[in-house]
Amino acid sequence: MTSIPDIFGTMAYGPAPEGVAPAHAWLDRHGRRFGLFIAGEWTPAGDDTFETLNPATGRPLARLTQAGPAEVDRAVEAARAAQPGWWAIGGHARARYLYALARQVQKHSRLFAVLESLDNGKPIRESRDIDVPLVARHFYHHAGWAQLMARELPGREPVGVVGQIIPWNFPLLMLAWKIAPALAMGNTVVLKPAEFTSLTALRFAELCQEVELPAGVVNILTGDGRTGEAMVAHPGVDKIAFTGSTEVGRIIRTATAGSGKRLSLELGGKSPFIVFPDADLDSVVEGVVDAIWFNQGQVCCAGSRILVQEGTAERLVAKLKARMEALRVGDPLDKAVDMGAIVAPVQLRRIQDLVRRGEEEGAELWQPSWGCPRDGWFFPPTLFTGVEPAATIAQVEIFGPVVVLMTFRTPAEAVELANNTRYGLAASLWTENVNLALDIAPQLQAGTVWINCTNVFDAGSGFGGYRESGFGREGGREGLREYVKWAPGRRAAGAKGRKGAGAHGRTGASLKARSAGALLPPIDRTPKLYIGGKQVRPDSGYSLPVHDALGARIGEVGQGNRKDVRNAVEAAHKAAPGWARATAHNRAQVLFYLAENLAARSEEFARRIAAFTGGSAAEREVAQGIERIYTYAAWADKYDGRVHPTPFRNVTLAMPEPIGVLGLVCPELPPLVGLLSLVLPAVAMGNTVVAIPSSSAPLPATDLYQVLDTSDLPAGVVNIVTGNRDELAPVLAAHDDVGGVWYFGSAEGSAEVERLSAGNMKRTWVDYGRGRDWTALDQSDGEEFLEQATQVKNIWVPYGE
Ligand code: NAI
Repeated sequence: MTSIPDIFGTMAYGPAPEGVAPAHAWLDRHGRRFGLFIAGEWTPAGDDTFETLNPATGRPLARLTQAGPAEVDRAVEAARAAQPGWWAIGGHARARYLYALARQVQKHSRLFAVLESLDNGKPIRESRDIDVPLVARHFYHHAGWAQLMARELPGREPVGVVGQIIPWNFPLLMLAWKIAPALAMGNTVVLKPAEFTSLTALRFAELCQEVELPAGVVNILTGDGRTGEAMVAHPGVDKIAFTGSTEVGRIIRTATAGSGKRLSLELGGKSPFIVFPDADLDSVVEGVVDAIWFNQGQVCCAGSRILVQEGTAERLVAKLKARMEALRVGDPLDKAVDMGAIVAPVQLRRIQDLVRRGEEEGAELWQPSWGCPRDGWFFPPTLFTGVEPAATIAQVEIFGPVVVLMTFRTPAEAVELANNTRYGLAASLWTENVNLALDIAPQLQAGTVWINCTNVFDAGSGFGGYRESGFGREGGREGLREYVKWAPGRRAAGAKGRKGAGAHGRTGASLKARSAGALLPPIDRTPKLYIGGKQVRPDSGYSLPVHDALGARIGEVGQGNRKDVRNAVEAAHKAAPGWARATAHNRAQVLFYLAENLAARSEEFARRIAAFTGGSAAEREVAQGIERIYTYAAWADKYDGRVHPTPFRNVTLAMPEPIGVLGLVCPELPPLVGLLSLVLPAVAMGNTVVAIPSSSAPLPATDLYQVLDTSDLPAGVVNIVTGNRDELAPVLAAHDDVGGVWYFGSAEGSAEVERLSAGNMKRTWVDYGRGRDWTALDQSDGEEFLEQATQVKNIWVPYGE
């Protein structure tokens, strides 16, 4: 028995247990067996069941049903049947439902928090003060978006039925991140929680009944990866939204390739935590606690790599060790505990294996002197120093309470180390110098950059990855895009194709007649490839014939191959940092100048295009091309970000940033406008591009080289490789230095691009062979291109008191 003087002597905490009786009573009420929630009703628990365990004790909590393909079918059908009605009731009605859900979460917040901690092992302090309040906030915020949808997202409509697959680290919060925006925008959902942590999703299903949400709008299926797989494969699902491991993300990308399903992926990370010498080290230490020991380090954006300036490292390490010694690991339901249990034995083993690997590779391990509880699955806070940047533990996502520390000398080296990862989810940087902070933030390859803070989230701010951390955003205005599409009627269905080309063939013939009638034979023109600002011969040494609309041979172009594409990517890669840094005003100026130079040669271009499409259409196309250049020159300095009013002492700067190198596979027709429509938004936003022009009508593209040369466009910003589009597109899709590929061609080609993009998780935008009317690009379509050309980075800046 500890006496009061003892307690004063040690200042040790006593246990402060949270009451768990209401959660157990809820489980008992369900007989500790759960069915599935389909079409607003519970199915009886199935024959195929599995147990969900309490990670702090290893003991079972309940039996859950493994949903099979038949249940996935029924759930998708229910969602499909409910969707038109859910959209038709309008934004205001949907806002009322979302508001009711927010309220209901608040009214039952403690039960949710306790269930979450029981099922997941996270400290009640976190589930009660972070997860559940953020869940309510998400539903409130999106009630607002439902209300404003008609005004703020005109011309957009829901995607349809969304399959949502979520992980175990923030079970209810990830559910909210997925369901709230989907419902706000008029979609219906089939959601699968992770097999380790389904209980709060099942309790949420009850909330849906309590607020009398129309049946089928939300369906909840429990089960493991097999259930997820069936959802991904289901033809009735219009979009998959996934959060989880990069490995499974890659499987899903490959499985959905070519299906026409929309996809957003929020995957793993290895986020840097950068400490400059002038940082407030005590704040930094608390920052590290939040970065890597929050949720036992099972956080996709965990700051798992501390990068500290060499001269500061020793002091920081000493302070960190002292702080780690004072952390408390124990029963998640103890209100005074800092860290709870690891979700499952498989995850614990993974952490243990990687830690062993770290030691084998020569890094120095440090753990506090105290031991962890022995029932259940626990792992102590762990610090590795003396870590090589290429070491396994510096590169692989550990997803546990393990942080590695490396040093740098200069800010440039810090940036280099920070970006030395396949991932790009988040980064945090610590300095008292705002100039340094705002110089470094844009240089970090990450979807979120936190300045002097870390792991802060809000419904008003988009969250998501760069590079292999996936694509798509959750939260904020940018997150809504994932759940809407442009309504038909904005653009006419189906490309015009070659229809009507015959009628204009005469122009091509008359062109030839003119040259034949001249006294001298025309000087041969050899259109080459355009790489790094130079006209270069194709590596293959082959040329391809080009025919006019009547089938007459009117020239040849270089047959680009794999090597040419690689060279073009290299040139684009080299030009990318400079072009991204160029001011938006500067980019706008270059584009306006391009329009000027094209206008000066419009007759020549019209004649060239006429050979492929016809006389009056050709003139119109040139005029349209010039206007399109104007449009994107105009946008270059106006497609700007937002400032999100996130709570705490912050404003959050949501900045659209270029993706990097984009591969653009252009439509066959119209030859000039098809090319310009892709190249312009991409470069206006600061990307550099490798464009594969029309295979059948490439000459307007090769004529463009000279216009590009005379328009002050830096070398390598636009590269053009002629040849067979469907041979070249896969090279771009598989290339690791290409950040995104747009493909407007066949259904098979689209599928191939999506499949091959899984390597480095590049962003893809394909049309599945549906085509589009390129001449009828209106304002909203222009915006769609700008969205595809950018990704949003949220920078959290401390502000005010
Ligand atoms: P996981 O990626 O396998 O699981 C995430 C979700 O996907 C779960 O609901 C799971 O049932 C489902 N799933 C699994 N296989 C699927 C498939 N073939 N098709 C469709 N859905 C499928 O993650 P897991 O196995 O739970 O954890 C493994 C590692 O992934 C962790 O050690 C951690 O490194 C990482 N991870 C990252 C998360 C993040 O938020 N970035 C979240 C969870 C895990």
